[in-house]
Amino acid sequence: MTAGPTREAIDPVRFVSNRSSGKMGYAVAAAALAAGHEVCLVTGPVALAPPPGAEVVRVTTAADMLAAVRKRVRACDLLVMAAAVADWRPRHPARRKLKKSAGPPRIDWEPTPDILKTIAPLKKKTQTFCGFAAETHDLARAARRKLREKNLDAIAANDVSRPDRGFAVDRNALTIYFAAGRARRVALAPKAECAARLLRALEEICARKKK
Ligand code: C5P
Repeated sequence: MTAGPTREAIDPVRFVSNRSSGKMGYAVAAAALAAGHEVCLVTGPVALAPPPGAEVVRVTTAADMLAAVRKRVRACDLLVMAAAVADWRPRHPARRKLKKSAGPPRIDWEPTPDILKTIAPLKKKTQTFCGFAAETHDLARAARRKLREKNLDAIAANDVSRPDRGFAVDRNALTIYFAAGRARRVALAPKAECAARLLRALEEICARKKK
């Protein structure tokens, strides 16, 4: 499991990140533990206590998260990437604090590594990979494109434009798109319930792959 945001340094005291609270990813980790799975939770900085029983790996940047996932992915049956990885990072973070008196800095940005795309070649036939797609518009199209481009078995798409679901709140609604072409809706519910339903769908894929 990955969860939470990543932080990308601008200088020693400033960073760029996003509004991910980690709640959805932590809920999936808790659901997996409750179902009797061994769970490794690779987490960005969040204000949540990890579910008891998970192996917890704390990371800060997208590069850290990639290294942590790469190291552990061979050992897992199921990878769920719920982390909201920052898309861009300053190409040259300043070594010393930027002075406010110098005015707003011009920052040269570069993309962070795409973790799922980078590890896709390591995926074994018996493994199931699931991503998340947080979108404000064109949810279905974007989710299906990511499913294809990131070589996933499933992607859980959620609308982050509405205040009653998605980032930072306790409820969510998901549409799970499967590589096989089907989709399954999980109606607005506490994240724990969304997580349990997502996990069940992913367990079905895992079971088919192991046959
Ligand atoms: O491309 P986008 O960020 O919308 O894709 C979302 C999915 O891809 C999530 O599962 C997220 O954890 C994963 N991701 C990634 N590496 C990135 C950005 C996103 O693995 N650099």
